[in-house]
Amino acid sequence: MGRKLVAGNWKMNGTNADLKEIEALGIAWAAPRVDIVICPPATLVSRMAFALGGQPIRVGGQDCHAEESGAHTGDISAEMLKDAGARYVIVGHSERRADHHETDEMVRAKAEAAHKAGLTAIICLGESLEQREAGETLDVVGRQLAASLPDGATASNTVVAYEPIWAIGTGKVPSVEQIAEVHGALRAGLAERFAGEADGIRLLYGGSVKPDNAAEIFGVENVDGALVGGASLKSTDFSPIVSALESSL
Ligand code: 13P
Repeated sequence: MGRKLVAGNWKMNGTNADLKEIEALGIAWAAPRVDIVICPPATLVSRMAFALGGQPIRVGGQDCHAEESGAHTGDISAEMLKDAGARYVIVGHSERRADHHETDEMVRAKAEAAHKAGLTAIICLGESLEQREAGETLDVVGRQLAASLPDGATASNTVVAYEPIWAIGTGKVPSVEQIAEVHGALRAGLAERFAGEADGIRLLYGGSVKPDNAAEIFGVENVDGALVGGASLKSTDFSPIVSALESSL
């Protein structure tokens, strides 16, 4: 089993002034026992990587194009993120699947591009409220897992984040039983396809993770960390979540 991981997704938030949140984190986590990643907007990737210097907090992008370069105005490639100092990139976030009509096939191509560039892909999946209420959750996430992960996924180049869409930014969190059920199914799906790598591919939970519910979530079997949105923006919220993960070891 690899090291546990907390990743912060700043989404479309943050300007230069917010780098002070990272400096505060860096001081608090000089020697973390878990991996810590912050995914700021693309405009801050390079500056954040520079500000972190040799500190053990990694920077990630929030999306990448499937191709290395070319006529794709406004897009950013995995190579460019790597060049800017990123080590990770989120692909297939539900907000991109919704806002930009990204399909599992596109997400898989982006993850392949990330791997080719030497980045670790954080591949997101998760059901809608409608799908949950129709009892389709395990089918939906099973399909997304099968279609969004490239064949070359390994414990070091791939992280899977289960983010139920209805839990994102809503303050609603699935029960520990519901999280355990989905993470158990995802682990089994990984085991079928990736054999020896399956136990090492980290499974993050994401959706309204906060300082006051983090410990309970980190106690769930097959939860290897969290992908945190709103609570990653302030070091005073993010720090206790990192602490909760360290305490769960
Ligand atoms: P919140 O933590 O704000 O619910 O966002 C979760 C998320 O979408 C992280 O990628």
